[in-house]
Amino acid sequence: MAVLDIVTYPDPRLREPTTEVTEVTDDVRELVRDLIDTMYALNGAGIAAIQVGRFERIFIIDGRVATDKEDAEPVVFINPEVVETGNGTVVAEEGCLSFPNVFVDVKRPRWAKVRAMNVEGETFEWEGDGLLGRALQHEHDHLTGKLMIDLVGMVKKEMIKRKMKRFHGTQAREAASQ
Ligand code: NI
Repeated sequence: MAVLDIVTYPDPRLREPTTEVTEVTDDVRELVRDLIDTMYALNGAGIAAIQVGRFERIFIIDGRVATDKEDAEPVVFINPEVVETGNGTVVAEEGCLSFPNVFVDVKRPRWAKVRAMNVEGETFEWEGDGLLGRALQHEHDHLTGKLMIDLVGMVKKEMIKRKMKRFHGTQAREAASQ
């Protein structure tokens, strides 16, 4: 088990292009396990590989978010594509492991369907609305270098930037005092 360090905004790695996974190798399986461990350790609803500084097109969604069942396994999406969104739009609060303690209202389509490959190399589709629809779109955005700060207005953008500056300042002070 390995909990990996999270890449936080405004680290430019969050904007890097991602790469298709051509084969589910042991290395990919290990990355998937580490992503799951990291997501659980930090209480995230989802996590994308780019958030731990890896550029494979992979994201994970927590089992409870993906299925509504308390003890469900996390769902692994490899080379995911959003095939459809719809049912109107909805504004709801969103968070992101790359923006610790930042929560902002983001407007998105209510429902989304994603096609991806699982760790067995099989193609599957997953769809949902509510938190799941939002998580599918949010995590897929990460793989295209898009972040929730890109989806809010100027005032909220500045607020997020200030909060992240404060976050990095606190991190630097803590590191200096150790
Ligand atoms: Ni995120």
